Amino acid sequence: MESKKSSLASSTPNISPSAQDEDIIVASKPQAGTTWLKVLVFTIVNRHFYTLSNTPLNSANPHQLISHFELFSTHLPYSMLADSIKRSNCRIVYITRNPFDIVVSLWHFMRGVYNLPDWSLEDCFEMFCRGEESYGPFWDHALGYWNMSVEKPSNILFMRYEELKEDQVAQTKRLAEFLGFPFSMEEEKTGVVNQIIDFCSFNNLKDLEVNKTGKIPRSIIPSNKLFFRSGEVGDYINHISPAAVERLSNVLKEKLSGSSLAFN
Ligand SMILES: *[C@@H]1O[C@H](CO)[C@@H](O)[C@H](O)[C@H]1NC(C)=O
Ligand SMILES: *[C@@H]1O[C@H](CO)[C@@H](O)[C@H](O)[C@H]1NC(C)=O
Repeated sequence: MESKKSSLASSTPNISPSAQDEDIIVASKPQAGTTWLKVLVFTIVNRHFYTLSNTPLNSANPHQLISHFELFSTHLPYSMLADSIKRSNCRIVYITRNPFDIVVSLWHFMRGVYNLPDWSLEDCFEMFCRGEESYGPFWDHALGYWNMSVEKPSNILFMRYEELKEDQVAQTKRLAEFLGFPFSMEEEKTGVVNQIIDFCSFNNLKDLEVNKTGKIPRSIIPSNKLFFRSGEVGDYINHISPAAVERLSNVLKEKLSGSSLAFN
Protein backbone atom coordinates (compact mmCIF):
# COMPACT_ATOMS: atom_id res chain seq x y z
CA MET A 1 0.00 0.00 0.00
CA GLU A 2 1.09 3.53 -0.62
CA SER A 3 1.70 5.59 2.46
CA LYS A 4 -0.57 8.56 2.98
CA LYS A 5 2.28 10.96 2.36
CA SER A 6 3.38 9.54 -0.96
CA SER A 7 -0.14 9.12 -2.31
CA LEU A 8 -0.87 12.76 -1.51
CA ALA A 9 2.34 13.83 -3.20
CA SER A 10 1.50 11.99 -6.38
CA SER A 11 -0.73 13.79 -8.86
CA THR A 12 -1.73 10.68 -10.75
CA PRO A 13 -3.96 8.24 -8.92
CA ASN A 14 -2.17 5.05 -7.98
CA ILE A 15 -4.46 2.36 -9.34
CA SER A 16 -2.45 -0.62 -8.18
CA PRO A 17 -0.98 0.18 -4.79
CA SER A 18 1.39 -2.43 -3.54
CA ALA A 19 2.42 -3.33 -0.02
CA GLN A 20 5.58 -1.76 1.39
CA ASP A 21 7.94 -3.46 3.79
CA GLU A 22 7.17 -0.81 6.44
CA ASP A 23 3.42 -1.46 6.29
CA ILE A 24 1.60 -2.86 9.26
CA ILE A 25 -1.65 -4.71 8.75
CA VAL A 26 -4.11 -5.56 11.51
CA ALA A 27 -6.03 -8.69 10.48
CA SER A 28 -8.95 -10.38 12.20
CA LYS A 29 -12.43 -11.76 11.83
CA PRO A 30 -15.04 -9.25 12.95
CA GLN A 31 -15.70 -9.31 16.72
CA ALA A 32 -12.35 -10.89 17.55
CA GLY A 33 -10.81 -7.88 19.29
CA THR A 34 -10.16 -5.70 16.24
CA THR A 35 -10.87 -2.37 17.92
CA TRP A 36 -8.61 -3.12 20.88
CA LEU A 37 -5.75 -4.28 18.70
CA LYS A 38 -6.04 -1.23 16.42
CA VAL A 39 -5.85 1.14 19.35
CA LEU A 40 -2.87 -0.70 20.83
CA VAL A 41 -0.96 -0.81 17.57
CA PHE A 42 -1.71 2.84 16.80
CA THR A 43 -0.61 3.93 20.26
CA ILE A 44 2.56 1.83 20.31
CA VAL A 45 3.70 2.88 16.86
CA ASN A 46 2.93 6.57 17.35
CA ARG A 47 3.99 6.95 20.96
CA HIS A 48 6.90 9.21 20.08
CA PHE A 49 4.62 11.55 18.10
CA TYR A 50 1.69 11.86 20.46
CA THR A 51 1.35 11.88 24.21
CA LEU A 52 -1.66 10.07 25.63
CA SER A 53 -3.36 13.38 26.33
CA ASN A 54 -3.00 14.76 22.80
CA THR A 55 -3.40 11.55 20.81
CA PRO A 56 -6.04 11.79 18.08
CA LEU A 57 -7.64 8.72 19.68
CA ASN A 58 -9.26 11.10 22.13
CA SER A 59 -11.47 12.57 19.44
CA ALA A 60 -11.73 10.01 16.66
CA ASN A 61 -12.86 6.42 16.62
CA PRO A 62 -9.89 4.04 16.17
CA HIS A 63 -11.41 2.68 12.96
CA GLN A 64 -10.99 6.10 11.33
CA LEU A 65 -7.38 6.49 12.34
CA ILE A 66 -5.86 3.22 11.38
CA SER A 67 -5.16 4.24 7.78
CA HIS A 68 -2.85 7.04 8.95
CA PHE A 69 0.84 6.33 8.59
CA GLU A 70 1.42 2.90 7.09
CA LEU A 71 -1.24 1.20 9.14
CA PHE A 72 -4.00 -0.82 7.50
CA SER A 73 -6.54 -3.36 8.53
CA THR A 74 -8.47 -6.18 6.97
CA HIS A 75 -11.01 -8.86 7.74
CA LEU A 76 -10.01 -10.89 4.69
CA PRO A 77 -8.66 -14.41 5.04
CA TYR A 78 -4.93 -14.76 4.40
CA SER A 79 -5.51 -16.62 1.15
CA MET A 80 -7.29 -13.57 -0.29
CA LEU A 81 -4.64 -10.99 0.56
CA ALA A 82 -2.96 -9.33 -2.42
CA ASP A 83 0.18 -11.04 -3.66
CA SER A 84 2.17 -7.88 -3.02
CA ILE A 85 1.38 -8.21 0.67
CA LYS A 86 2.43 -11.85 0.72
CA ARG A 87 5.64 -11.08 -1.14
CA SER A 88 6.58 -8.00 0.86
CA ASN A 89 8.19 -7.93 4.26
CA CYS A 90 5.28 -6.07 5.84
CA ARG A 91 4.09 -7.08 9.27
CA ILE A 92 0.69 -8.57 9.88
CA VAL A 93 -0.81 -8.81 13.36
CA TYR A 94 -3.70 -11.24 13.56
CA ILE A 95 -6.04 -11.40 16.51
CA THR A 96 -8.55 -14.11 17.24
CA ARG A 97 -10.79 -14.96 20.12
CA ASN A 98 -12.70 -17.96 21.38
CA PRO A 99 -15.42 -18.52 18.80
CA PHE A 100 -18.20 -18.78 21.38
CA ASP A 101 -17.68 -15.20 22.48
CA ILE A 102 -17.36 -14.22 18.82
CA VAL A 103 -20.77 -15.68 17.99
CA VAL A 104 -22.51 -13.80 20.79
CA SER A 105 -20.71 -10.59 19.89
CA LEU A 106 -21.47 -11.05 16.20
CA TRP A 107 -25.15 -11.55 16.95
CA HIS A 108 -25.40 -8.33 18.98
CA PHE A 109 -23.39 -6.41 16.41
CA MET A 110 -25.34 -7.56 13.33
CA ARG A 111 -28.68 -6.98 15.01
CA GLY A 112 -27.55 -3.47 15.80
CA VAL A 113 -26.08 -2.72 12.39
CA TYR A 114 -28.81 -4.20 10.23
CA ASN A 115 -31.68 -3.60 12.62
CA LEU A 116 -32.75 -7.24 12.87
CA PRO A 117 -34.74 -7.48 16.10
CA ASP A 118 -36.17 -10.89 15.12
CA TRP A 119 -32.91 -12.57 14.21
CA SER A 120 -32.27 -15.09 16.98
CA LEU A 121 -28.98 -16.07 18.55
CA GLU A 122 -29.79 -19.64 17.53
CA ASP A 123 -29.97 -18.61 13.87
CA CYS A 124 -26.70 -16.75 14.15
CA PHE A 125 -25.12 -19.75 15.85
CA GLU A 126 -26.26 -22.11 13.07
CA MET A 127 -24.88 -19.81 10.43
CA PHE A 128 -21.54 -19.73 12.27
CA CYS A 129 -21.37 -23.54 12.68
CA ARG A 130 -21.94 -23.90 8.94
CA GLY A 131 -19.18 -21.37 8.27
CA GLU A 132 -21.55 -19.09 6.35
CA GLU A 133 -20.77 -15.76 7.99
CA SER A 134 -18.86 -12.88 6.39
CA TYR A 135 -15.21 -13.46 5.49
CA GLY A 136 -15.61 -17.23 5.52
CA PRO A 137 -15.54 -19.93 8.17
CA PHE A 138 -13.91 -19.04 11.47
CA TRP A 139 -11.63 -22.10 11.41
CA ASP A 140 -10.29 -21.50 7.89
CA HIS A 141 -9.67 -17.86 8.71
CA ALA A 142 -7.73 -18.64 11.90
CA LEU A 143 -5.85 -21.54 10.30
CA GLY A 144 -4.73 -19.47 7.35
CA TYR A 145 -3.03 -16.91 9.59
CA TRP A 146 -1.91 -19.53 12.11
CA ASN A 147 -0.12 -21.55 9.46
CA MET A 148 1.62 -18.48 8.11
CA SER A 149 2.62 -17.31 11.59
CA VAL A 150 4.37 -20.65 12.04
CA GLU A 151 6.01 -20.38 8.64
CA LYS A 152 6.97 -16.68 8.79
CA PRO A 153 7.04 -15.69 12.47
CA SER A 154 8.82 -12.40 11.87
CA ASN A 155 6.09 -11.28 9.45
CA ILE A 156 2.95 -12.62 11.08
CA LEU A 157 2.07 -12.41 14.76
CA PHE A 158 -0.82 -14.55 15.96
CA MET A 159 -2.52 -13.09 19.04
CA ARG A 160 -5.43 -14.25 21.15
CA TYR A 161 -7.86 -11.90 22.81
CA GLU A 162 -7.89 -14.00 25.98
CA GLU A 163 -4.10 -13.96 26.30
CA LEU A 164 -4.03 -10.23 25.77
CA LYS A 165 -6.62 -9.79 28.48
CA GLU A 166 -4.85 -12.20 30.82
CA ASP A 167 -1.34 -10.78 30.61
CA GLN A 168 -1.52 -7.33 29.12
CA VAL A 169 2.01 -6.28 29.97
CA ALA A 170 3.69 -9.31 28.42
CA GLN A 171 1.45 -9.30 25.36
CA THR A 172 1.80 -5.56 24.79
CA LYS A 173 5.57 -5.88 24.96
CA ARG A 174 5.45 -8.83 22.60
CA LEU A 175 3.35 -6.78 20.18
CA ALA A 176 5.66 -3.76 20.37
CA GLU A 177 8.70 -5.92 19.73
CA PHE A 178 7.10 -7.61 16.77
CA LEU A 179 6.12 -4.25 15.30
CA GLY A 180 9.71 -3.07 15.54
CA PHE A 181 8.89 -0.49 18.24
CA PRO A 182 10.13 -2.23 21.40
CA PHE A 183 9.91 -0.44 24.73
CA SER A 184 13.20 0.90 26.03
CA MET A 185 14.46 0.21 29.55
CA GLU A 186 13.68 3.82 30.31
CA GLU A 187 10.09 3.44 29.12
CA GLU A 188 9.63 0.29 31.13
CA LYS A 189 11.00 1.97 34.24
CA THR A 190 8.82 5.03 33.89
CA GLY A 191 5.62 3.05 33.45
CA VAL A 192 4.96 3.78 29.77
CA VAL A 193 3.78 0.22 29.11
CA ASN A 194 1.12 0.42 31.80
CA GLN A 195 0.05 3.89 30.72
CA ILE A 196 -0.54 2.61 27.21
CA ILE A 197 -2.42 -0.41 28.50
CA ASP A 198 -4.66 1.76 30.69
CA PHE A 199 -5.30 4.22 27.89
CA CYS A 200 -6.19 1.42 25.46
CA SER A 201 -8.40 -0.38 27.96
CA PHE A 202 -11.99 -1.12 27.13
CA ASN A 203 -13.33 0.99 29.96
CA ASN A 204 -11.32 4.03 29.00
CA LEU A 205 -12.24 3.85 25.32
CA LYS A 206 -15.87 3.04 25.93
CA ASP A 207 -16.35 6.14 28.05
CA LEU A 208 -14.84 8.58 25.59
CA GLU A 209 -17.65 10.68 24.17
CA VAL A 210 -16.73 9.82 20.57
CA ASN A 211 -17.35 6.14 21.23
CA LYS A 212 -20.57 6.71 23.08
CA THR A 213 -22.25 8.97 20.59
CA GLY A 214 -19.99 9.22 17.56
CA LYS A 215 -20.49 7.71 14.16
CA ILE A 216 -17.98 7.04 11.37
CA PRO A 217 -18.88 9.18 8.33
CA ARG A 218 -20.40 7.18 5.43
CA SER A 219 -20.27 3.97 7.48
CA ILE A 220 -23.22 1.57 7.69
CA ILE A 221 -22.44 1.22 11.40
CA PRO A 222 -25.13 3.41 12.97
CA SER A 223 -23.15 4.26 16.11
CA ASN A 224 -19.61 3.85 17.41
CA LYS A 225 -21.18 2.48 20.57
CA LEU A 226 -21.56 -0.84 18.75
CA PHE A 227 -17.79 -1.32 18.82
CA PHE A 228 -17.82 -1.36 22.61
CA ARG A 229 -20.32 -3.86 23.98
CA SER A 230 -18.79 -5.94 26.74
CA GLY A 231 -15.19 -6.97 26.14
CA GLU A 232 -15.49 -9.77 28.68
CA VAL A 233 -14.01 -13.24 28.26
CA GLY A 234 -16.38 -16.21 28.55
CA ASP A 235 -19.60 -14.19 28.53
CA TYR A 236 -21.05 -16.73 26.06
CA ILE A 237 -21.88 -18.96 29.04
CA ASN A 238 -24.79 -16.61 29.75
CA HIS A 239 -26.18 -16.89 26.21
CA ILE A 240 -25.39 -20.27 24.65
CA SER A 241 -26.75 -23.62 25.86
CA PRO A 242 -24.37 -26.45 26.79
CA ALA A 243 -25.70 -28.50 23.85
CA ALA A 244 -24.87 -25.69 21.44
CA VAL A 245 -21.41 -25.31 22.97
CA GLU A 246 -20.84 -29.01 22.38
CA ARG A 247 -22.03 -28.74 18.79
CA LEU A 248 -19.58 -26.00 17.88
CA SER A 249 -16.80 -27.70 19.86
CA ASN A 250 -17.26 -30.79 17.73
CA VAL A 251 -17.24 -28.78 14.52
CA LEU A 252 -14.00 -27.12 15.61
CA LYS A 253 -12.39 -30.37 16.63
CA GLU A 254 -13.07 -31.79 13.20
CA LYS A 255 -12.05 -28.71 11.24
CA LEU A 256 -8.84 -28.12 13.19
CA SER A 257 -7.77 -31.74 13.36
CA GLY A 258 -4.35 -32.30 11.88
CA SER A 259 -3.28 -28.76 12.72
CA SER A 260 -1.49 -27.48 15.82
CA LEU A 261 -4.17 -24.83 16.42
CA ALA A 262 -6.72 -25.30 19.21
CA PHE A 263 -9.33 -23.26 21.06
CA ASN A 264 -10.10 -24.14 24.67
C1 LIG B 1 -2.95 -25.22 7.77
O1 LIG B 1 -2.06 -26.29 7.97
C2 LIG B 1 -2.69 -27.53 8.20
C3 LIG B 1 -1.64 -28.59 8.44
O2 LIG B 1 -0.72 -28.19 9.38
C4 LIG B 1 -3.49 -27.92 6.98
O3 LIG B 1 -4.19 -29.10 7.26
C5 LIG B 1 -4.48 -26.82 6.67
O4 LIG B 1 -5.15 -27.11 5.47
C6 LIG B 1 -3.82 -25.47 6.55
N1 LIG B 1 -4.90 -24.53 6.43
C7 LIG B 1 -4.81 -23.36 5.83
C8 LIG B 1 -6.05 -22.57 5.70
O5 LIG B 1 -3.77 -22.93 5.40
C1 LIG C 1 -13.91 5.30 21.39
O1 LIG C 1 -12.59 5.26 21.66
C2 LIG C 1 -11.83 6.14 20.92
C3 LIG C 1 -10.48 5.99 21.39
O2 LIG C 1 -9.81 5.24 20.54
C4 LIG C 1 -12.28 7.50 21.12
O3 LIG C 1 -11.55 8.33 20.30
C5 LIG C 1 -13.67 7.57 20.82
O4 LIG C 1 -14.09 8.80 21.09
C6 LIG C 1 -14.43 6.60 21.67
N1 LIG C 1 -15.82 6.59 21.41
C7 LIG C 1 -16.36 6.13 20.29
C8 LIG C 1 -17.84 6.09 20.30
O5 LIG C 1 -15.72 5.77 19.32
